[in-house]
Amino acid sequence: MQKQIEVRNLTFSYGKGTILEDINLDLYEGDYLALIGPNGGGKTTFLKLLLGLREIQKGEIKIFGKDPKEARGEIGYLPQYINFNMDMPINVDEVVLQGRLRKGKLFYTKADRKIAKASLDRMGVAHLADRKISQLSGGQRQRVLLARALAKEPKIIILDEPTASIDLEGQKEIYALLKALPQTKIVVSHDINILFEGVNRVAHIQKRLHMHDGLVQKIKRDEGHFCEMELLEMIRGDDA
Ligand SMILES: Nc1ncnc2c1ncn2[C@@H]1O[C@H](COP(=O)(O)OP(=O)(O)OP(=O)(O)O)[C@@H](O)[C@H]1O
Ligand SMILES: [Mg+2]
Repeated sequence: MQKQIEVRNLTFSYGKGTILEDINLDLYEGDYLALIGPNGGGKTTFLKLLLGLREIQKGEIKIFGKDPKEARGEIGYLPQYINFNMDMPINVDEVVLQGRLRKGKLFYTKADRKIAKASLDRMGVAHLADRKISQLSGGQRQRVLLARALAKEPKIIILDEPTASIDLEGQKEIYALLKALPQTKIVVSHDINILFEGVNRVAHIQKRLHMHDGLVQKIKRDEGHFCEMELLEMIRGDDA
């Protein structure tokens, strides 16, 4: 399998105080990484570094052997918070088409529209195509934004708490949809259930990053009588 993401000795701060310290990570084609950890642990910051949205201060990140900024075109991203101007009269289908934007591109092709439509379909929200984005529920909007990330036809998908505003039923559906996507995926989640949903790699970030790939096997073995508290303690113990 091809190595797609390589992080070496990455350390980052926003000024005073280290946010991420000496992080190492290798992800291979088709890996599905669950990124877990407490509020303020540095998950979103780490994703932004991977996307080239923050400058690297110390250490190195290579994506397809390139610097993050140069690889950004290959990554579909769903941010944790989106500042949509809710008065903006933009339709759902136009939001998804933004996923087809390229540098220097002036208009969308027929193929772009087809891909955008297919992405909406895939996320189960094709019926909302003509609605205003501002008029959707939180969960509907989240699916539309996922569709936008997919419309880019990325090799890697990075999602920052994609199920945050989605009801239980919807969360299951989103997990199933993600599981079926063949791309390399990194998903931040506070919901430990994600570990049951096709993930093969697990990392906990609290300033430092620790891999817990063995958890996936453990959970599969213990399914039915697995204890969330026990799991969290295992992870914390490792970080101490
Ligand atoms: N732009 C910024 N300027 C200064 N400090 C920041 C900035 N963004 C984040 N931080 C700080 O960096 C730390 C890590 O934040 P980050 O958003 O990466 O955490 P997180 O793991 O994504 O948390 P959450 O689970 O709450 O989303 C926090 O202490 C936060 O206050
Ligand atoms: Mg975050």
